Amino acid sequence: MDWNAALYRKSHGFVAEYGKNLLACVPEDAAQCILDFGCGTGELTAALAGKAGQVVGVDQSAAMIRAARETYPGPEYHVLDAAGLAAQGWTARFDLVFSNAVFHWIQDQETLLRALHAVLKPDGLLVCEFGAQGNVAAVCAAFASALATRGRTRADPFYFPTPAAYRQKLETAGFQVRYIEDYDRPTPLSGGENGLALWLEQFFAEDLAGFEHTEQMNIFREVVCALRPRLWDGERWIADYRRLRLLAVRN
Ligand SMILES: C[S@@+](CC[C@H](N)C(=O)[O-])C[C@H]1O[C@@H](n2cnc3c(N)ncnc32)[C@H](O)[C@@H]1O
Repeated sequence: MDWNAALYRKSHGFVAEYGKNLLACVPEDAAQCILDFGCGTGELTAALAGKAGQVVGVDQSAAMIRAARETYPGPEYHVLDAAGLAAQGWTARFDLVFSNAVFHWIQDQETLLRALHAVLKPDGLLVCEFGAQGNVAAVCAAFASALATRGRTRADPFYFPTPAAYRQKLETAGFQVRYIEDYDRPTPLSGGENGLALWLEQFFAEDLAGFEHTEQMNIFREVVCALRPRLWDGERWIADYRRLRLLAVRN
């Protein structure tokens, strides 16, 4: 998916804001080298730089990396996905891999975990958080229904596992799980009345690209109407986020 870095920064800064909480799981050590996988526009990469001697941000989106480089020029950045990462030859380069709000975008989890295992040093730490089973379920269902009335099926790019299913994947890939838990995180969206439409525009860009602008507006209206009783609190939209947080050690 091609990311809109400007829209992400302007309206979805809450993703990195919540990610700051995950930073507490990262020890401070000037001798360590950290990889921020799926670094986006670099807010958390820059924060990680205060905890380590070297930080490398990678993201598959050239637009996100461009924005990160412009705003936070300190860390090293590369446009890479998991397969690209594996091809870098960075075997056992990193003490810690950090990743916030990225893994659920990736269907091929085996390639992802193999690549992260390879770049981590033995006993290196994986610290990450992403969507758990049931994440934004109400939003996805309303959007899928709006597409269905137009004869379309949602592409559904997301992978939202249970902790048990993901523990198994981690163990198979050669990680020892120290902590894994899912939790509800009702998430207020920025943009007031318009917040849900902005969220759909960002995160369902691929599905929406197949529709003319007017039809996109009709879809937003339908989804807003369907979800208002459940997710509008009178002042803002509260999306039904569920997260999975984990800490795992590379064997
Ligand atoms: C919701 S943003 C999170 C960005 C950042 N981690 C933060 O917390 O603000 C998700 C990011 O994951 C990146 N991404 C998605 N799939 C990826 C993949 N296969 N490899 C690398 N990055 C990926 C996207 O380009 C996007 O920048």
